[in-house]
Amino acid sequence: MTEPSTNDRIIVFDTTLRDGEQSPGASMSVTEKIRIAELLDAMNVDVIEAGFAIASEGDFEAVNAIAKRLRNSVVCSLARASRKDIDRAAEALQPAERKRIHTFIATSPLHMRVKLGLTPEQVHERVIESVSHARKYTDDVEWSCEDGSRSEPDFLFRCIESAIDAGATTINIPDTVGYSYPDEFADLIARIRNTVPNIDKAVISVHCHNDLGLAVANSLRAVQAGARQVECTINGIGERAGNAAFEELIMAIRTRNDVLPYQSRIDTTRIMQASRLVSAVTGFAVQNNKAIVGANAFAHESGIHQDGMLKDAQTYEIMRPEDIGLVRSNLVMGKHSGRHAFRTKLRELGYELGDNALNDAFVRFKALADKKKEVFDEDLVALVDDEIAGEDQPIKFVSLHLECGSGVTPTARLKVTVNGEERAAEATGCGPVDAIFIAIRQLVPHEATLSLFQIHAVTEGTDAQAEVTVRLEENGRTVNGQAAETDTMVASARAYLAALSKLLLKRQKTAPAALSA
Ligand code: KIV
Ligand code: ZN
Repeated sequence: MTEPSTNDRIIVFDTTLRDGEQSPGASMSVTEKIRIAELLDAMNVDVIEAGFAIASEGDFEAVNAIAKRLRNSVVCSLARASRKDIDRAAEALQPAERKRIHTFIATSPLHMRVKLGLTPEQVHERVIESVSHARKYTDDVEWSCEDGSRSEPDFLFRCIESAIDAGATTINIPDTVGYSYPDEFADLIARIRNTVPNIDKAVISVHCHNDLGLAVANSLRAVQAGARQVECTINGIGERAGNAAFEELIMAIRTRNDVLPYQSRIDTTRIMQASRLVSAVTGFAVQNNKAIVGANAFAHESGIHQDGMLKDAQTYEIMRPEDIGLVRSNLVMGKHSGRHAFRTKLRELGYELGDNALNDAFVRFKALADKKKEVFDEDLVALVDDEIAGEDQPIKFVSLHLECGSGVTPTARLKVTVNGEERAAEATGCGPVDAIFIAIRQLVPHEATLSLFQIHAVTEGTDAQAEVTVRLEENGRTVNGQAAETDTMVASARAYLAALSKLLLKRQKTAPAALSA
């Protein structure tokens, strides 16, 4: 592949595993993070922010494991402006072939006063100390001014200049609360370029949140004004309304290269795969009308549109579905399909499973094909996502028997394993779902409250799989669990167990939000 020239080359910094994971409920296990990181690495993402090493043992382990494995992308860990944070980030990143320490401190008057309780002079000193300390471990140091877009410009410019003098090679300007609008943000970037005397020694990066739905627009205007790194997350997940969506940024640059004449190294044909993987792992469904990766993004319903599409796809499509890895396939799956066809189909859908995972998924596919006349692509996606999400669960579903209907007390007899040990319970409730959830509480006592229970049919027809999402909340922690089955009650039990498993794993962690600088 030809390296694009440096001045039109956009560095793609993915923070799905760090800022993305900070979305309420989006916890990921170490294995899941490794899987996402390996895919991002294969897609040629330049920098992967693998976590916030000091936040928890789990974060440290994830950054460290990813640092050991990746050979293409730079692996990055976040650190506050303190020696302890930076030392911990450096320790986690130690095995990485290419590593970056990303250190940050807030620079807006509000954050400095209320959150940090520091004067601007003290913050300025911390900038120099933290960047100099990080440089002892690596010559790739990123410095971020948290709440940069609401900072007082002259103070911000001074901090940037000092960060670069202390050795920062990337200067990241976050719109932390998603407050900016495109021209204003572009103007800030232009002023930084025109005012900070040593700015040519660093790459300007932007990190936009989506509170007003402007994260992608702000990032693109910033690129036009001279930023050369964009920070983003798959499906736009992240704190509150999320971060700039990776797929939207990349496809906007690619599709409107006439007005955005920049290049990235991203292999766009794996965008759908990345979107599905992140959705499966986090339990965050992608809305149907989501740009690029939503189920309807390439669907044409009205007669006029369909007629146009049949004559020439460009009438209503500005991107080719295959460019993001969406294939229109003729391979129809049913109960006679063999393992080879199954693997080929999954590849078309963007899944590359290892032998064990493939075998497990194949067994489930055969069971599904026995129950359902036609197995649609959506069924396979739900089945494989479910398989992927369930792999690391400490609590696993074994069996469920239900009595319900008119004139009987709904009763659930449920068996699960908890860390491999089998447990069984029987419970009654005011309906079958209630009975199942009460049985789960008996088997795994917990105080979490159920804040969402949602069922959605994966396809049409009465034999459709039900995809159930369960959201649990406990002590400020939120987790989502998902499961798909033709039996809605089994799917409900498995979705609850998936959420509870995440909660158990999360209890060992400290929420990164609690650690803000
Ligand atoms: O939004 C933000 O300001 C951040 C920084 C830590 C870069 O996530
Ligand atoms: Zn952020």
